[in-house]
Amino acid sequence: MKIAIIGTGYVGLTTGTCLADLGHQVTCVDHGQEKVEKLNRGESPIFEPGLEELIVKNKTAGRLSFTTTIEPAVKAAEVIFICVNTPPKPDGHADLKYVETVAREIAENINSEYKVIVDKSTVPVKTAEKVKETILRYVKSDAQFDVVSNPEFLREGTAVKDTLEPDRIVIGVDSEKAMEKMLAVYQPLIEKTQAPVKIVSVKSAELIKHGANTFLANKISFANLIAETCEEVGADALEVLAAIGLDERIGNQFLSPGIGFGGSCFPKDIAAYKKTLEILGIDNSLVVAIEKINQRSTERFLHKVERELWVLDGKTIGILGLAFKPNTDDIRNAPALKIIAGLKAEGAKIKAYDPQAMANTKKMITDIEYANDPYQVAQGSEALIICTEWDEFKNLDLVKIKELMVTPIIFDGRNIFDPAAVKELGFKYFGVGR
Ligand code: NAD
Ligand code: UGA
Repeated sequence: MKIAIIGTGYVGLTTGTCLADLGHQVTCVDHGQEKVEKLNRGESPIFEPGLEELIVKNKTAGRLSFTTTIEPAVKAAEVIFICVNTPPKPDGHADLKYVETVAREIAENINSEYKVIVDKSTVPVKTAEKVKETILRYVKSDAQFDVVSNPEFLREGTAVKDTLEPDRIVIGVDSEKAMEKMLAVYQPLIEKTQAPVKIVSVKSAELIKHGANTFLANKISFANLIAETCEEVGADALEVLAAIGLDERIGNQFLSPGIGFGGSCFPKDIAAYKKTLEILGIDNSLVVAIEKINQRSTERFLHKVERELWVLDGKTIGILGLAFKPNTDDIRNAPALKIIAGLKAEGAKIKAYDPQAMANTKKMITDIEYANDPYQVAQGSEALIICTEWDEFKNLDLVKIKELMVTPIIFDGRNIFDPAAVKELGFKYFGVGR
């Protein structure tokens, strides 16, 4: 099948590449010239395990191409995926200007052949209606098309695996014809993985996505609330949450307390859902509480550092991990950045290292020192703060780290170390909820 992907970021690039790998003919469009040039050289513009190899494989096989020109891609495609970014507006609602632009560009380029236009970007409920209205407003020919919602559930760091082995495929359609096309797109994957397919209404599909992200964020904030309670009463949040999670109705995933959730999605998606509730006149205090607890998780952690080190002015603090989670170079809304800002505001000197996210961070923060490895971070530091749970940090030679530090203090924002073992080595150790 001929497929066009508009917006070649984390979602568009992974989706396009995986659909090509399943045998489709895919053209990925992005208005970022530099990004497209990189992709045409066979280089991935993002760090995502397994992605670059798959890009090269499918490009070489002639199934995957990249361009900045939307017109031929849209004209040739049977199915067009909208995968552009949907950032938050100042009031928290999703800014849909990029979706609107693409809808308009599609309208200007579609012909009388039937097309399915798929919204894969995360959007508030009823956006597909607006996309349809926009296309109808700007379309020149008597174009035949349907607008479908096909939300994406991939996680950064495991994007390829999540796409090729999905928990479910959600297809929101209002027409039989569009449903058949969408099933044809996913048929190779359905045959391979037996992934459950949920065919639902367009509005339901849109809500499934905001609902899923809000629920996951809710689990994390719940874990952080338990961690806060444990710190007050002297219990161990990891013990408490492990036992709570053993209940099959609850499950043990997404119950790790820490310095809060970040990334390009949870913060913006729950803010957008909160706004949707407000517009609909539905009480949104559950979402407000999720956000409050998340913010408090970072703030409480910073207070812990300040309480222990007292005056931060002039002290060198080592930061291990900048990415918002491991196995990605993405620093959008990374809790590490909030921690760094808080420490800098008190006059601390920051030395930081991340296995993949330093290039992106250097573009944003120029007044901190970047180290080549965790040991260089430890050298001369008065405390080490773990902000991202990279495997590389779990296997550090802590004896060497201790020798290099001015004072052996670890603030473990991701609970990667065993407190007893670290204390045994002579460190002062502060985790989250323990
Ligand atoms: P991104 O910022 O990485 O990529 C978006 C791309 O769209 C950019 O490369 C940008 O240049 C391009 N773009 C914007 N307007 C364009 C236009 N008019 N023509 C061509 N290209 C254009 O964003 P992302 O992380 O891939 O997210 C995309 C959407 O998917 C968002 O709605 C997000 O919420 C959702 N989502 C993201 C993830 C994730 O893990 N990142 C997972 C599920 C869903
Ligand atoms: C999340 C969802 O997991 C995906 O299903 C969804 O498709 C995506 O958002 C999206 O809509 O964009 P992602 O943001 O890539 O994926 O990463 P997660 O693994 O969900 O982690 C998000 C944040 O929560 C990270 O900062 C992580 O450190 C934090 N987290 C996660 C915790 O603090 N505790 C946990 O138990 C789990």
